[in-house]
Amino acid sequence: MKTLVGDAQPSRAPHEGPLQQPEIMRIRGGRPLRGRVEVKGAKNLVTKAMVAALLGETTSTLRDVPDISDVNVVRSLLEVHGVTVDDGDEGTLHLDPSGAVSAHFEEIDAHAGASRIPILFCGPLLHLLGEAYIPDLGGCRIGDRPINFHMDALRAFGAVVEKSYEGIRLSAPGGLHGADIRLPYPSVGATEQVLLTAVRAEGVTELRNAAIEPEIMDLIAVLQKMGAIISYEPNRVLLIEGVESLRGYDHRAIFDRNEAASWAAAALATDGEIFVGGAKQQAMLTFLNVVRKVGGDFDIREDGILFRRGERGLRAVTVETDVHPGFMTDWQQPLTVALTQAHGRSIVHETVYENRLGFTDALVKMGADIVVHPHGLEGGARRVPRRELEQAAVINGPTPLHGADVVVPDLRGGYSYVIAALAAEGESTVRNIGIIRRGYEKLFAKLDHLQADFDVVR
Ligand code: EPU
Repeated sequence: MKTLVGDAQPSRAPHEGPLQQPEIMRIRGGRPLRGRVEVKGAKNLVTKAMVAALLGETTSTLRDVPDISDVNVVRSLLEVHGVTVDDGDEGTLHLDPSGAVSAHFEEIDAHAGASRIPILFCGPLLHLLGEAYIPDLGGCRIGDRPINFHMDALRAFGAVVEKSYEGIRLSAPGGLHGADIRLPYPSVGATEQVLLTAVRAEGVTELRNAAIEPEIMDLIAVLQKMGAIISYEPNRVLLIEGVESLRGYDHRAIFDRNEAASWAAAALATDGEIFVGGAKQQAMLTFLNVVRKVGGDFDIREDGILFRRGERGLRAVTVETDVHPGFMTDWQQPLTVALTQAHGRSIVHETVYENRLGFTDALVKMGADIVVHPHGLEGGARRVPRRELEQAAVINGPTPLHGADVVVPDLRGGYSYVIAALAAEGESTVRNIGIIRRGYEKLFAKLDHLQADFDVVR
C-alpha cells in the first residue's frame, strides 16, 4: 500500500507529478513484485525520431511515445526551434516543422537540462537553417561521454565547428555533402548523427563500423518513410544516398527493450512474476539467453513476455556488455541486483562506458558482496581485452539485502536501487528519484500495480 507524505497529493492516480522535483522514495522491501506492466516506445528511439521530424517538409506523427522527462526535454527543444508539437490520442505526438527557426545557446541550454539530445539537432538544423548551437551537454554521469565522433563526422560532411565558452557553433557555408566515415567505435549517437545528416546531404555517404542496435534500425525505418534511401550492407556498413527533400512520417516506435529488461530483472531479484506487455522476443534474444543461464524463466506470448525465477533458483553467470547484438550496457545494472541473489560468483564486465559500475557501492551498503576491478580482471578471467574501458564487478551470492539510504546516481543505476530496495528486508530511502523518471514511464503507478510497498516524499 502506498501513502504519500510531505505535501504530496495523490493527484494523477497513481500520481506521476511534475518531473523535475527531487523526490524521495521510502521503500519497504522483502516481498515479490507480481503483476503486469506495459512498456511503450523506446526512449532511445522516440527522442531521435522526434528530432528526425525536423527534416520533413510536412507534419510527422509518432505513436507509442512514453511519458518520460527525456521526451519532454526534446519536445521543448523542438518548440524552442519553432516546431509545433501537439498531443494526439494517448502516446501520440504530431510534429510540424514548418516554422523551424534558429535558437541560441541560452535558450537551448535552458531546455536541454541534463540531456545529450541537442547534439543530434546539428545535421537537421544545418540543412534547414545553415547553423546550429550546442551548449555543454549532460546525460547520465557514466563516463566522460565525449562528442569527438559526432564532431569529426559533421566536419567530414563539410560543417565548420567553432568552440566558445558557451558551447559549440556549427555552420555549413558550402552546404553539406556525402562523406566516407569510419567510426572508431560503433557509437549509437554518432551513427544517428551520421544518419540524420547524410539523408539530406548532397551525394552518397558510406558509414563503416556503424551501430546496428534495433533502435537504430527503427530510426532507419522512420527515415525511409520520410523518403530517405539507406541501405544496410554487411559488416556494419550503412550506405546513405542523399535526397533533396523529405516528408513527414507516421510511425509506431519500437518497444523499450531496456525497460522490459529492467522489469525482468525486478522479477528475478524479488522472486516475483512480472508480465511485460509489449515486450518482443526478437530484440531481446541476447538478454533472454542470459535470463535462462542465470536460472530465470520466461514465457513468450503474443502480447508480451512473462518473467520469473525458475524452480531451481538463480545461478551465477558471467556477462560482458557490448554493442548490439551483444549484451547491452543498459541491462547490466538491473541484472546485477538479481545476481546478488544468485548462487555462486558472477562477473559483469563493462566495456561500453568507463564508469558504469560505481552504482554497486550502494548495493554493497545494502549487504551485497560486490568487488569492482576498475581495470578489469587479470589473466584468464579477463574476457574482453579488446577495449581499454573494461572494468569488472565480481558478485558473490546469494547475500540477503537490507534497507539503506541511497542516492540515485544515473538512470539505470537508480532503477537498480529501487529494485534492490524492493528485494531488501526493511525500509530503504532512495533519493533523487527524478533521474529515473527520465526513462521509466509511470514508475510509481507500475510499482503500485506490482504490489510494491512504498511512499513518495516531495
Ligand atoms: N563515445 C566517444 N565519442 C563520441 C561518442 C561516444 O568516445 O563522440 C564513446 C562513449 O564515451 C562510450 C561509447 O562510445 O564509451 C558508446 O557511446 P554511444 O555513443 O554508443 O552512446 P550514446 O549514444 O551516448 C546511447 C544511449 C545510452 C546507451 C548507449 C549504448 C541514448 C539517448 N542513449 O548513448 O542509453 O547506454 O547508447 O547503447 O540513446 C540509457 O538509456 O540509460 C543510456 C545511457
